[in-house]
Amino acid sequence: MQSRYHQVYSAWKEDPDGFWREAAAALDWFRPPREVFTSSEGVYGRWFAGGKTNTCHNCLDRHVAAGRGADNAVIFDSAMTGTKAAWTYAEVLAEVKAIAAVLLGLGVTQGDRVIIYMPMVPEAVFSMLACARIGAIHSVVFGGFAAHELATRIDDSGAKLIVTASCGLEPGRVVAYKPLVEHALELAENKPEHCLVLQRPQLTAEMVPGRDVDFADAVAAARAEGADVACVPVSAEDPLYILYTSGTTGQPKGVIRDNGGHMAALLWSVTNIYGLKPGEVFWTASDIGWVVGHSYIVYGPLLAGVTTVIFEGKPIGTPDAGTFWRVVDEHGVSVLFTAPTAFRAIRREDPEGEFIGRYPMERFRALFLAGERADPETLKWAESKLKVPVIDHWWQTETGWAIAANPAGLGLLPVKHGSPTVPMPGYDLDVFDDEGHPVARGVLGNIVVRLPLPPGCLQTFWRADERFRSACLSEFPGYYKTADAGYLDEDGYVFVMARTDDIINCAGHRLSTGAMEEVCSRHPDVAECAVVGICDAIKGQVPCGFVVLKKNVSRETSAIGREIVDLVREEIGPVAAFKTVVVVERLPKTRSGKILRGTMQKIADGMPWKMPATIDDPAILDEIGAALRAHGLSELPA
Ligand code: COA
Ligand code: AMP
Repeated sequence: MQSRYHQVYSAWKEDPDGFWREAAAALDWFRPPREVFTSSEGVYGRWFAGGKTNTCHNCLDRHVAAGRGADNAVIFDSAMTGTKAAWTYAEVLAEVKAIAAVLLGLGVTQGDRVIIYMPMVPEAVFSMLACARIGAIHSVVFGGFAAHELATRIDDSGAKLIVTASCGLEPGRVVAYKPLVEHALELAENKPEHCLVLQRPQLTAEMVPGRDVDFADAVAAARAEGADVACVPVSAEDPLYILYTSGTTGQPKGVIRDNGGHMAALLWSVTNIYGLKPGEVFWTASDIGWVVGHSYIVYGPLLAGVTTVIFEGKPIGTPDAGTFWRVVDEHGVSVLFTAPTAFRAIRREDPEGEFIGRYPMERFRALFLAGERADPETLKWAESKLKVPVIDHWWQTETGWAIAANPAGLGLLPVKHGSPTVPMPGYDLDVFDDEGHPVARGVLGNIVVRLPLPPGCLQTFWRADERFRSACLSEFPGYYKTADAGYLDEDGYVFVMARTDDIINCAGHRLSTGAMEEVCSRHPDVAECAVVGICDAIKGQVPCGFVVLKKNVSRETSAIGREIVDLVREEIGPVAAFKTVVVVERLPKTRSGKILRGTMQKIADGMPWKMPATIDDPAILDEIGAALRAHGLSELPA
């Protein structure tokens, strides 16, 4: 089919308000918006001001009212426990109403914040929807973050309630969540009134009388009482959720998503980017703790009346590299969305794709990849083995949906390996040099989006408008800075090459090396440190810490290294994948004292590097190379 992309993108450019008005018309509104875009409100404007709506209503009640109550909404498949289950739209609605009644009973009302710290279980998704139903603002925290990160989010959000589970399941270990929650509560200044705890059969959590409430008991009681909580009409601009993401400091940024714009954008994207129709099955193999999970495990599919798969497991080892294909086959998945790292892991285990051949996967028609750059080799391997289009698309926690993609619903454009294809309607992209001047096609620079950001993108950071302005809007006035470097080619294809800040992408997880440096420097023996992301064949990048010890330290450096690794795991969490510490005598710096992280990274990756003109003492780079060699890490001379 001839792609309609150019026609649709031009239609948006000619009449953005008309374009988004039409997208929003597919939703139910308790009161229609006063206008599509109001430039005078918010930091850079607001979408659908004056409108009253409810995201849970549009995800569930709307479909049940339209006679689709008996269709599957959610499929749960746990490769960790062997559990499989499905819920229809009517069943999910009943569950969500009961949880909403429990939340109300615990004193949670419109505008209150609820932290959800849960593994990949359906109750986590139902709890998100229950918050949306009563207008409470959820903030989901990924289970791989440890107590300190959880505490930061409890404090910053001012949460009134924590919804958690007794444990998560990782290959070979049961991760007890409750002790992490207790530790976080000790660290946090804000003390939520209650914890709603889902007891899983694998581990029973200790409950604090008067504060902790058993999830299953409370929900069962609410159901027995015939819980029938109506949706609270919220303003289109009201926050639906806060999702914390790594910034350039240890303090994470609370990305705020609204209700109206978010729904309009996600519904448009499920149809036009992913090409899905109501009743089809969409599987996003991610975690609800990430934006990908929020948008395409929970809200996007349900807004579109699509069936979503919640998967607890890993691409390999649970039990083998065929798990993804089993799930796609067994549940009739049409579109799979995951991170390239999952494919690199599968490819390493099953290079010939033998597992793929064992499953017919008759409904499978497209694979979408995001979260990190899809390296052309992995992409070509996936294309050749799966025989369906493999679509790289680029987005961020801040945007909530794809900035650039190859829109399957509009008809695919020719693929250029290494490019997530073209900007989606709503995104007017440009590439600037560091002085803010546009660069020519094909020239690398800062990728920026002309304001306003489209519906679905962040409004601001939670209670931090100024931080949002200074981090994202002030460097290039009139534009949002993506903090990604890349270029546009002559055909308007986007190439996203690297971050321009200290964020690294490890196994599709966004991590701040600055936050890790803050933790490393808290070790009593560390004088100064630098953390850089170095190449890893599976995870893309992994952090590597260079530390300089204090003068008087005479202990074994390997013992200190282990303590620093433990400290990062303890403070940030296992997800940081921080396992390498290289002790060095000095760090290379410019004459003005700036640590030359980029050069260290190139040396560690064995990439060609140039001696920085502003370096204070070139001999230090030789010392770095020698220290890396001593650790068995590669190094090439300048
Ligand atoms: N709860 C507790 N711990 C968790 C966790 C969770 N939800 N998720 C990960 N961890 C732990 C892991 O067990 C691991 O611990 P370890 O150091 O004791 O081994 C550590 O955090 C690092 O996890 P990860 O980087 O994910 O490595 P892995 O070896 O467990 O798995 C992949 C590697 C590639 C298979 C896996 O990262 C993957 O499937 N990634 C997909 C990426 C993704 O979903 N991205 C979201 C955006 S699309
Ligand atoms: P996150 O906010 O966790 O979704 O991470 C967003 C960052 O991941 C982006 O700013 C990019 O640096 C990177 N990223 C995500 N998808 C892609 C992609 N398809 N190509 C290149 N980089 C990507």
